Amino acid sequence: MTGRIVITRSLTAAVMEEAQRLPGELVVLGEAPPERSALLDAVANASAILSQLTERIDDEVLAAAGQGLRIVANGAAGVDNVDLEAAARRGVVVSNTPGVLDDATADLALALILATTRRVVEADRFIRGGSSWIWGPQEWIGLQLSAGATLGIVGLGRIGMAVARRAHAFGAGIVATGSRATGAEAAALGVEAVTLDELFARADIVTLHCPLTAETEGMVDTSRLASMRRGSYLINTGRGPLVDEEALADALDSGHVAGAGLDVHEHEPRVNERLRGSDRVVLLPHIGSAGAATRDAMGRLAVRNIAEVLAGRDPVTPVR
Ligand code: GLV
Repeated sequence: MTGRIVITRSLTAAVMEEAQRLPGELVVLGEAPPERSALLDAVANASAILSQLTERIDDEVLAAAGQGLRIVANGAAGVDNVDLEAAARRGVVVSNTPGVLDDATADLALALILATTRRVVEADRFIRGGSSWIWGPQEWIGLQLSAGATLGIVGLGRIGMAVARRAHAFGAGIVATGSRATGAEAAALGVEAVTLDELFARADIVTLHCPLTAETEGMVDTSRLASMRRGSYLINTGRGPLVDEEALADALDSGHVAGAGLDVHEHEPRVNERLRGSDRVVLLPHIGSAGAATRDAMGRLAVRNIAEVLAGRDPVTPVR
């Protein structure tokens, strides 16, 4: 018997069309993140939940769904919003959407690297402020990725590798930690596998691409920031809580860190006021995967995972 299929937030038209073909009553909770009580009510007797990173899918939600729940298909690569242990205990499959968002996210990481090091947003704000200006040989000088700057990629997985390809094309040297740092593709890009300590000590720009787990939460804290090179940059397109934002604001105030590009925020959607006030920080509203083709692909993959599991097969991209 198939129950209701709960889609917590409406998806692109192409994805919604595909979702209509799923076996079961489709319940779409709306555009905005559902209130907790609405989510708990809606999932009762669900066979599948297609969730987003804005919803905490914990044991309470799984219990509210009841025994018929077969799959939580999270519409993201990260699954830090899902209690994987509780799902495993209840025999509920969890899937995510890896692979289809690598390029879009890497594009955005490069955009933030260039925006911070070449001071793009700061310069735009300056022009809009109406100040008079004239070109000068010593004006607006920034760090040049293409002049051999060292990029440190924390977590060289799929997205990290897509960043490495782009950075290599720009002429950067690359040091990295992570599962693919010692592989053949990394070697072809001149990536040097290093420890986390070495990465922070050597990189001119550190970019974060590791998952948020109990081990990585708060990993970029006061002492990590102090271990960075003076005048270096921090980029985060992973998850906000990887970074202690107050510590980052201190490091920016002291000038030890020259700039930061943050697509994700420690207490999302709240943005740290000190960072908001800093000219040297570029702030984005978590848009790493927000390319049109990518958002369609993520939604389609989540729908396909539901279809497979409801048909009694394994999901295409299970979280293990
Ligand atoms: C987006 O942040 C994702 O994890 O897919």
